[in-house]
Amino acid sequence: MKTFGTLLAFLFALTAAAAAFAQDAGDYTRYADYAPVRATPAALREGPAGKTLVAYFSRSGNTAVPAGTDAVSSASLRFGDGGETTGNAGQIARWIADETGGDLFLIQTEYTYPPDYRQTVRVGEGQDRDGYRPGLASHIADMARYDTVCLVYPIWHYTLPVPVCSFLDEYDLSGKTVLTFATHAGSRFADTVGRIREAEPGANVVKGVAVGEREIGSAKDAVLAAVRKHVQAARPAQAPGKEKTMKMKIDGTEVAVQWENNESVRALRKLAAVKPLTVPMSMYGGFEQVGSLGTRLPRNDTVTTTRPGDIVLYSGDQIVIFYGSNSWSYTRLGHVVGATAPKMAGLLGKGDVTLTICME
Ligand SMILES: Cc1cc2nc3c(=O)[nH]c(=O)nc-3n(C[C@H](O)[C@H](O)[C@H](O)COP(=O)(O)O)c2cc1C
Repeated sequence: MKTFGTLLAFLFALTAAAAAFAQDAGDYTRYADYAPVRATPAALREGPAGKTLVAYFSRSGNTAVPAGTDAVSSASLRFGDGGETTGNAGQIARWIADETGGDLFLIQTEYTYPPDYRQTVRVGEGQDRDGYRPGLASHIADMARYDTVCLVYPIWHYTLPVPVCSFLDEYDLSGKTVLTFATHAGSRFADTVGRIREAEPGANVVKGVAVGEREIGSAKDAVLAAVRKHVQAARPAQAPGKEKTMKMKIDGTEVAVQWENNESVRALRKLAAVKPLTVPMSMYGGFEQVGSLGTRLPRNDTVTTTRPGDIVLYSGDQIVIFYGSNSWSYTRLGHVVGATAPKMAGLLGKGDVTLTICME
């Protein structure tokens, strides 16, 4: 009986999921006869600097190309410099991300557009006329960390593709510089810069460069000139050769740290770049001080026996510094340079401390 009940529940869930799919995907298929595919979200490509987000929409990355289809012969699924299929917008976005050291993000719809170009035009135009806002498959976890957003998009139906409107609806870009780049077959920017200003009234929206679909090969210099002009201008000037490094202070006294090279430390660095992190720490167990970061970092825990001076991430959102030793599952963040048991006990073993992590 229980098995029958479970089977019924399973069939019900399956039917509900199928109905939801038919409804969402129907918003695409009412304009063209094809089978939309649920997108596999692409990961954000993290750059070393991290203050600039390069968000782009392209037909490429939003089209499930059946094996054997000669879709790359279409201008809209062009190969990038590295030989991968990037789309025109994707190629421009990669140049910008490489120049700025920013993060590269593909605006991806939950369902793919048709492999056939003319069908895509019908779907895109139909969705635009209907004011449809497709759901997005991937999302930015922490928009606050960026001071500049470079937005790269193709012109669809003489305006912004509707997935870019979904992106603008999802995020409040107030206080940021939004630098726009369009790629087109003749419409240049059309009305897109005005529409982005309307959608983001608190942002400083700057017109970048419009690149014709046949001019991509010769557009790199113009794109990078706009980036250098506006992205650098949006930042406080930094003397050449004075790269900021991540510093750790215990009760205001700087302690030299050898940081690990892993994604947790990269995420920590990005947080500290937005504003210094101040973490109230508490003594625990007679061997460590622990405090909450107030946010989660990527974790890759392994069972570790720590030694004095080790800095680790515990449970994804707590930072721990050891003046003794413990065996537990942690992600390593770094080690205090020249740490000894007496030195660390002197720093951490006499009462709760305040930890500061900042970029200087
Ligand atoms: C659905 C759709 C609609 C389009 N509408 C226009 C348009 O109205 N004006 C224009 O200049 N180009 C239009 N194009 C051409 C694209 O903007 C151009 O090919 C662009 O470079 C494609 O970039 P991508 O490869 O990143 O998708 C359209 C393309 C598609 C797929």
